[in-house]
Amino acid sequence: MKARIAVLVSGGGTNLQALIDAQSSVLKSGEIALVISNRSKAYALERAKNAGIETAVITKKMCGSQEEFERKLIETLEEKNIDLIVLAGFMTILSPLFTSRYPRRIINVHPSLIPSFCGEGFYGLKVHEAALEYGVKVTGATVHFVNEIPDGGEIIAQKAVYIKADDTAETLQKRVMEEAEWILLPESAEMVSKAIIEER
Ligand code: GAR
Repeated sequence: MKARIAVLVSGGGTNLQALIDAQSSVLKSGEIALVISNRSKAYALERAKNAGIETAVITKKMCGSQEEFERKLIETLEEKNIDLIVLAGFMTILSPLFTSRYPRRIINVHPSLIPSFCGEGFYGLKVHEAALEYGVKVTGATVHFVNEIPDGGEIIAQKAVYIKADDTAETLQKRVMEEAEWILLPESAEMVSKAIIEER
């Protein structure tokens, strides 16, 4: 039986789309059983619905506190017997209450070569703005296990992307997604799913 994957999203969901598309190719050992968004208007929810995947919306506002938010996430994941949690543009930091429950069972995609431009405050376009501001000539993406340190868990895969002289944060974000994130995330989800089913 395939590993049951939950994808946690907050926004456009292009990485979710890459995972959905990969289910007919590289993602052989896992199936996306659930998509959870912490924003009710996230376009990622439409992508999930179009693919016939069950969705849930859990917002911090709805729950009242970070702790209740995480408890609700855990409850939902357990109800659906989820084996692997994939953070795909999930724009909120999870506390040790959550991460300690799932050692090596949560992976995240980050749009830089960790340990550069990562940690609290580095998310989405801000990461690319920081890379351009610093003047690095190479950036990329990283998929890593999630632990209690923001962007500090063991690295699973990385891919480098060259920065062009005329790049803006937007053009760079798009190229890092196309050349790195959308490839690395499905490959990594497959690797971890395979390890999970082999452990059974
Ligand atoms: C992606 O670039 C992802 O790596 C980044 O947000 C974007 C989400 O796009 N995540 C982070 O910055 C997490 N720290 P998407 O919703 O189209 O997948």
